[in-house]
Amino acid sequence: MSRSDETIDLLLTRRSVKPMTMTTPGPDAGELEIILRAGTRVPDHGKLAPWRFILFQGEARAAFGEVLKLRFAEIEPSSNEDRLALEATRFTRAPLVIAVISRVVPSAKAPEWEQRLSAGAVCQNMLIAATALGYATTWLTEWCAFDASIAASLGLGESEKVAGFIYFGTPTIPKDERERPDLNAICMDWKPA
Ligand SMILES: Cc1cc2nc3c(=O)[nH]c(=O)nc-3n(C[C@H](O)[C@H](O)[C@H](O)COP(=O)(O)O)c2cc1C
Repeated sequence: MSRSDETIDLLLTRRSVKPMTMTTPGPDAGELEIILRAGTRVPDHGKLAPWRFILFQGEARAAFGEVLKLRFAEIEPSSNEDRLALEATRFTRAPLVIAVISRVVPSAKAPEWEQRLSAGAVCQNMLIAATALGYATTWLTEWCAFDASIAASLGLGESEKVAGFIYFGTPTIPKDERERPDLNAICMDWKPA
């Protein structure tokens, strides 16, 4: 494969974008397929495909918002109307949300840890693909990724967890910079003891 400075530039400048600042359009059908295919193009020990995707588009986003609102009112009964309205509109902040579901497939080769990491790689590949297509993206979990009742609403099985709710939309504001770790603080050469 030939050198791609564009890819390196994308990797060194990628930023998350707050869903509240996203607008339409989201990816079209062809772009969505690219994002999904890029998502499946991750290291996957044993070829297990230990992940699956739930797409929220159009009216499904508001319908799922109602599920979130009802559940939030149950777990936080003192919530005011504004807080509940926020839950109802959580998924309408962006034109497309993809839930990346990590699942564990019985395997003698690949332990659960590796399968969970593979799902994280799916999320990142989707971010990169969508960024390359010109979309704003962010990888969130928020409370709804960890709630058993929401997991049931999503139809998650025993081994399944939400690796991320990935938001996709059109950016409305320029991205700013975020300080990154000092490489000297996190890298070392291994030396024999
Ligand atoms: C698994 C995972 C879950 C995350 N969940 C949240 C979240 O719920 N809320 C949030 O503000 N950021 C969350 N983040 C962080 C954002 O995705 C993002 O990385 C952060 O805002 C920094 O922006 P950057 O990606 O441009 O560095 C999560 C990141 C990961 C890897």
